[in-house]
Amino acid sequence: MKNFYITTPIYYVNDKPHIGHAYTNIISDVIARFQRFLHKDVFFSTGTDEHGLKIDKAAKEKNIVTQEFVDEVAKNFTSLTKDLNISNTSFIRTTDDNHKQFVQQVWNKMLEKGYIYKGNYSGWYSVRDEAYYKEEELIDGLAPSGSAVEWMEESSYFFQLSVFQDKLLSFYEKNPDFVKPASRYQEVLSFVKSGLDDLSISRTNFKWGINVPDDSKHVMYVWLDALFNYLSVLKDAKFWPADVHIIGKDILRFHAVYWPAFLMAIDEKLPIAIFAHGWWMNDGEKISKSLGNVVDPYEIMNKFGLDYFRYYLIREVTFGNDGNFSKNSFVDRINAELVNKVGNFIHRVSTLIYKNSIDPMHQSIDLTEDDQKLLDASKNSLSKITDHMEEYKLKEALGVVVELAEKGNAYIHNNAPWKLAKTDAKRMKTVLCIAANTIIDIGILLQPFVPDSAKKILDYFSIEDRSFQSIEDSNKISQDITLSKPSIIFSKIE
Ligand code: MSP
Repeated sequence: MKNFYITTPIYYVNDKPHIGHAYTNIISDVIARFQRFLHKDVFFSTGTDEHGLKIDKAAKEKNIVTQEFVDEVAKNFTSLTKDLNISNTSFIRTTDDNHKQFVQQVWNKMLEKGYIYKGNYSGWYSVRDEAYYKEEELIDGLAPSGSAVEWMEESSYFFQLSVFQDKLLSFYEKNPDFVKPASRYQEVLSFVKSGLDDLSISRTNFKWGINVPDDSKHVMYVWLDALFNYLSVLKDAKFWPADVHIIGKDILRFHAVYWPAFLMAIDEKLPIAIFAHGWWMNDGEKISKSLGNVVDPYEIMNKFGLDYFRYYLIREVTFGNDGNFSKNSFVDRINAELVNKVGNFIHRVSTLIYKNSIDPMHQSIDLTEDDQKLLDASKNSLSKITDHMEEYKLKEALGVVVELAEKGNAYIHNNAPWKLAKTDAKRMKTVLCIAANTIIDIGILLQPFVPDSAKKILDYFSIEDRSFQSIEDSNKISQDITLSKPSIIFSKIE
């Protein structure tokens, strides 16, 4: 059995979760579930990033002891993973003792190897981004992300990032798929080519972080602490290197530059790929607390249900691009595809089967070209989806299911089984059985994307074998099934 290790970023616990957190979780979950269907042994990790000045400040503003504050806020994120039906196999908190000790060991190793030295830092820092910026990177006195920066001067330990510039460049050159999509790869390349300064990796003017070993005046830079969660969380070394770190485009530099350099410094293997997705906006505007336009995932789930939310996030944007959340696009996307194409096909066929008391086990005979075309389209869908998923083209992968439902609808339209009921009962049976076969394939293929709805489809036909291989099988339905009156699985929304 092959291994597959996938991670989400670990989430800052300064506030409650928003659509961005839901998105990274759901996308990673789809990939993890898909890989399990390919029989991989999947380790899927997510968690919370709990140290640093941003979180310390958020706790102090609320007058709560920082540890108590993070314990409380972290609960929102553990609940979110459950409520989004995320199939993670671990949840790490960076305040866990294990993690802290792990990172201290890493520090000592870097120190031993001579990559850490003590000096003085003076420069710009953004608390919101927890990032250092060079003077020439600032735009009108702000960080490129638009966050405020403050001038900092303090005693600090440094990581010799500069010595890794050439090594990184030759690594990127040999591994053009390390950063996806390709436009992000170019971004990383030009950043590293522009020159790397050594990185300040400790702070002295606040305490909320992992102590630097043997120098407790210093706490570690939160990104050094956070990135190593990907290793500290592993109980079984067989999963390293990670197959993919799913991240948002705003945290690309940390993952594609600092992280590989840290790993090189301790002689660890580098992850295979980093996929940076885009950002969701709300009705064309950047989402921000100050604008008061934060999209609450619970509001959407309560109104439309989890699977509609998952479906929308996957289908609405090309994975890697920015997306624009709006109620209209949500309603349109769901009604046009999931309801009118997929749902309509399922409901039409299952109602006809039920009404005409068709035994879906009926052996289809004398197949026409049209029958064969639909059977083939069903079978071929799996390899099409797998090809897309290998390139992390989630929108396109799920699109294959929509196309299959469209083909199913056309097939039903062309063969008009309701007319055959009066003229050729035998042929009607064949048509409905072939259509039922496609519905079951749709149910099987939908499992990684909308697991609850897929289950309803497969439960309806009492399907036991729900593996991807079963798509090859033309006798999916068990001998003694009695179909009940079909209920609507994908109902229309307004
Ligand atoms: N703690 C760091 C990650 C450390 S990983 C070692 C962090 N946390 S975060 O909570 O601010 O962001 C988590 C993820 O949410 C990031 O991948 C970020 O890109 C994503 N999003 C935050 N806002 C977003 C949108 N509006 N849209 C899509 N994703 C966005 O960064």
